[in-house]
Amino acid sequence: MKILVTGAAGFIGTNFVYYELEKHPEDKIVGLDLLTYAGNLENLDGCKNNPNFSFVKMDIRDRKEIFDLFEKEKFDVVVNFAAESHVDRSIENPEVFLKTNILGTQVLMDASIKYGVKRYHQVSTDEVYGDLPLDRPDMFFTEDTPIHTSSPYSSSKAGADLLVGAYHRTYGLPVTISRCSNNYGPYQFPEKLIPLMINNCQNNKSLPVYGEGLNVRDWLYVEDHCKAIDLIIRNGKVGEVYNIGGHNEMRNIDIVKLIIRHLNKSEDLITYVTDRKGHDLRYAIDPTKIHNELGWLPETMFKDGIVKTIDWYLNNKEWMEKIVSGEYQNYYDSMYKNR
Ligand code: NAD
Ligand code: TYD
Repeated sequence: MKILVTGAAGFIGTNFVYYELEKHPEDKIVGLDLLTYAGNLENLDGCKNNPNFSFVKMDIRDRKEIFDLFEKEKFDVVVNFAAESHVDRSIENPEVFLKTNILGTQVLMDASIKYGVKRYHQVSTDEVYGDLPLDRPDMFFTEDTPIHTSSPYSSSKAGADLLVGAYHRTYGLPVTISRCSNNYGPYQFPEKLIPLMINNCQNNKSLPVYGEGLNVRDWLYVEDHCKAIDLIIRNGKVGEVYNIGGHNEMRNIDIVKLIIRHLNKSEDLITYVTDRKGHDLRYAIDPTKIHNELGWLPETMFKDGIVKTIDWYLNNKEWMEKIVSGEYQNYYDSMYKNR
């Protein structure tokens, strides 16, 4: 099988490429990425000499280049991770989110139809369901929960999901969609909560907690997400949506304190800053469908995954230093200075 993985040099895309090459040595993977601020080709150094892997730098919005690539490579499966993925950036500048996340998805699906792709898989997010109240622990997102978005990011992902459904119904494109909860693990860009806090903590910098830190996210180790997508593209039913999450709800403040304890730092580093606009209160996934239909269960417990993750960042300080010494500093100042 030949699989196109878009967004391959980003956080989850990188982990997925390594997972697939190891799990399915009979398959060929083409990794595609525009290498935006979030894409890092060095992430893929570990497979650049693997004969089953090749990389192409390309924009999913570039119809001509994408069509030429599909014509040449004749992909069996497309897994679309490529996206603008950070909520805070979407609040500052929504436009690129709409262009990449919606129009880029359209280009990939048009090419998939023209060149007979057997499965188009859209990597989506639980954020398309909006949020749940903090005082209703009995409520979870199921695949039937109405789409009800809060941020430009989640709206662009929801727009793409609706288009994927429409391409299935209208043109018969064999699609699947997965909606996963928050991921953590190696290679995550330090604009996101966990790597940002690990990096700041290590450097004795203040830890900016939005609002009171009481918002809840449902955290999943990235490899468990990769395993779920692998099952869906091979055994999932065409036209279906699968929610992915491991029943691991945590308040932001508790995650930050856990990182502080693990790194032997002081809670005095915590700084409560102005809340995110439109901040979703709680995400929580009901993963019954993917468990019952595909036998998926998360394997990494949060208490183990978070230690593995912190250790990865400690052992890969150069990876982090290269990122934070570049454009990142401007981003950080614009987002957090005087907040
Ligand atoms: P990321 O920002 O780390 O990676 C995104 C990658 O897409 C980057 O390498 C970037 O260079 C690439 N990209 C951006 N625009 C592109 C374009 N026009 N053409 C080609 N490549 C482009 O994001 P991530 O956390 O790895 O998320 C991957 C996918 O998973 C996204 O679709 C996201 O919505 C979804 N998702 C993420 C999470 C999470 O917790 N991180 C949870 C659920 C779903
Ligand atoms: P984030 O990693 O951006 O993921 P998402 O918004 O997609 O869930 O943020 C996770 C949670 O952490 C979210 O409630 C916002 C909060 N947060 C902070 O409190 N401080 C920070 O510096 C960041 C980046 C996030």
